[in-house]
Amino acid sequence: MTTRVSDWLDQRLGWRAVWSALFLRKMPKTNWLYTLGSATLFVAINQIVTGILLTIYYVPSPDQAYDSVQYITTQVTAGWLIRGLHHWGASAMVVLTVLHMLRVIVLGSYKYPREVTWFTGIALLLIVIGFGFTGYLLPWDQKAYWATTVGTRIAEVTPLVGNWILRIMRGGQELSAVTLARFFGAHVWFLPATLLALLGLHLFLIVRNGISEVPTREEE
Ligand code: HEM
Repeated sequence: MTTRVSDWLDQRLGWRAVWSALFLRKMPKTNWLYTLGSATLFVAINQIVTGILLTIYYVPSPDQAYDSVQYITTQVTAGWLIRGLHHWGASAMVVLTVLHMLRVIVLGSYKYPREVTWFTGIALLLIVIGFGFTGYLLPWDQKAYWATTVGTRIAEVTPLVGNWILRIMRGGQELSAVTLARFFGAHVWFLPATLLALLGLHLFLIVRNGISEVPTREEE
């Protein structure tokens, strides 16, 4: 019965070819360093799942954000766990992305034909940093407020366009409810949408080009 259903679906969707292309690929002999990309992907999925769960109780307004985070941590069932996974996952994400990038640099995997995979990787790194920067403000405590004051002030020292960038980020000259709304919007809509699109392209190119081989001495 299950074979008939899967045959029926395969004739219409061609899913077996997709499955083979994804999971039955030929792999060169690699090493543990090649698992860093998948580890980053695993943490990214953790961030998406726990992030969605956090939005159930989080309120992005200056008079309620702090209390809603406290409520999640102390009152909601397993809220402390969901928030903890998201909080520590954010740091793990940055560390793993950088380690994965270092592995790509050290083993020369950015070279032909993987240049575009590398470019999408650079964009992914900027997005990961963007997630960290916008997420840091959301608990709306003293640390968040002053870190974002300093962070946006650093952007302001950019020559010529600095004050313009600061006003775009803050939604005015000072940090306010508008800043919190903007950071929340970027954190839960703009950045995730861009991340998913770029990640799709990144993974497609990895399947398309195959994983690079570990460089060896010519005489070996
Ligand atoms: C959200 C962040 C990222 C995720 C989830 C991710 C995911 C992955 C995965 C699963 C692989 C295949 C397995 C592996 O080689 O480890 C891979 C390969 C690759 N990634 Fe990333 N990556 C990310 C960021 C980056 C960054 C920052 C760069 C570089 C700037 C980069 C460049 C590459 C390249 C060039 C490959 C092909 C490696 C090869 O063929 O040996 N990635 N990535």
